[in-house]
Amino acid sequence: MLDRLTVHMNEVPVYDISYHDSFDELKDLLTGFNTMDRKVCVVSDSKVASFYMDAILRVIEPVCKKVTSYVFPEGEPSKNLNVVRELYEHLILEKFDRHDLLIALGGGVVGDLTGFSAATYLRGIDFIQVPTSLLSQVDSSIGGKTGVDFDSYKNMVGAFYMPKHVFMNLNVLYTLDRRQFFSGMGEIVKSALIKDYEFFNWLIDNNQDISKLDLATLNSMVYKCNIVKKNVVEKDPTEKGDRALLNFGHTIGHALEKYMNFEMLHGECVSIGCILSTIISYNKGYISVEDKNRIVELIKTYELPLLPQDIDVDEIIKYTKNDKKVVGNSIKFILLREIGDAFITTEVTDEDMKLAINEYLGK
Ligand SMILES: NC(=O)c1ccc[n+]([C@@H]2O[C@H](COP(=O)([O-])OP(=O)(O)OC[C@H]3O[C@@H](n4cnc5c(N)ncnc54)[C@H](O)[C@@H]3O)[C@@H](O)[C@H]2O)c1
Repeated sequence: MLDRLTVHMNEVPVYDISYHDSFDELKDLLTGFNTMDRKVCVVSDSKVASFYMDAILRVIEPVCKKVTSYVFPEGEPSKNLNVVRELYEHLILEKFDRHDLLIALGGGVVGDLTGFSAATYLRGIDFIQVPTSLLSQVDSSIGGKTGVDFDSYKNMVGAFYMPKHVFMNLNVLYTLDRRQFFSGMGEIVKSALIKDYEFFNWLIDNNQDISKLDLATLNSMVYKCNIVKKNVVEKDPTEKGDRALLNFGHTIGHALEKYMNFEMLHGECVSIGCILSTIISYNKGYISVEDKNRIVELIKTYELPLLPQDIDVDEIIKYTKNDKKVVGNSIKFILLREIGDAFITTEVTDEDMKLAINEYLGK
């Protein structure tokens, strides 16, 4: 397993990301956090808990003052304030105080909800991320964005709140279903495209081993992707500038997610958004035709859905206006100057998006 990374804020080390092939080393990690004197609550969703809760409890119970668990139904609909309320209730009944600790064991939903609860319970208690989906390992567990949905508004309530550690067990990816796995690949290609040309080439060269879920390859891939995210969030911890680059493929991706009524997964929509943003980057004279083709071909090798032929293009474009990235009348769009070099622009028009979608659909 590759070693560890340290995430800094204002050049001060804030937390480490470590890489493992089991949960065993959680024991040493928690010992380092003095858990013999602290209560620990493992928060998870029903699906992840069914695979891993027993294994985690077995490892950590001997090194903690007391361990409890809180499990909620899997899926995005649980990422809301009612579940947060139930978690607060659990913590109050179990007499958790400010120096106790939460562990988020699960995908982005568990991480975001646990992080938000940790940020707000007693004005903030420590939490550790143990991300289990590919998307959460490469994206949501790093950077300190936490939050929940409010009614139909996604991520409407939240806080920037850093974990104390991110513990990656790469072996958990073997129980993730393939659709979820490839949805995570959408965010990975995005990371390479915005910041790391070498990583993009590496993804092409290692495509077969990635599809076969070779453990060492997965470890390298997650590690490389974490470096991209770490560098971006260190430069812009509260999303005031450069962090917006992480939204490459997301303006159209989010619009598509809404248009499809969330029946397509986030990473699936982002991957289509990446293809369309690539086409726009080419049409506007930035990237070369060779690079455009390499990007589109790589994404198309993944087991990802295509844009449905019968979509209503105008409706999707309408949805892009609801995106949080709208500034006045213009959309803050991310394009590629070249592979590994993204930039923020307001030059993308409805016509540019329409043209790219029609080109994608072969119309
Ligand atoms: N905080 C951030 O910076 C950030 C960034 C990107 C996305 N997000 C959020 O992350 C969420 C999406 O994350 P996600 O894709 O991980 O969704 P998720 O947490 O719902 O996990 C997807 C599914 O995979 C299951 N699962 C997770 N790990 C598994 C494993 N190892 N084995 C078997 N099943 C497993 C879950 O139970 C769930 O059914 C969204 O709510 C999104 O808003 C947050």
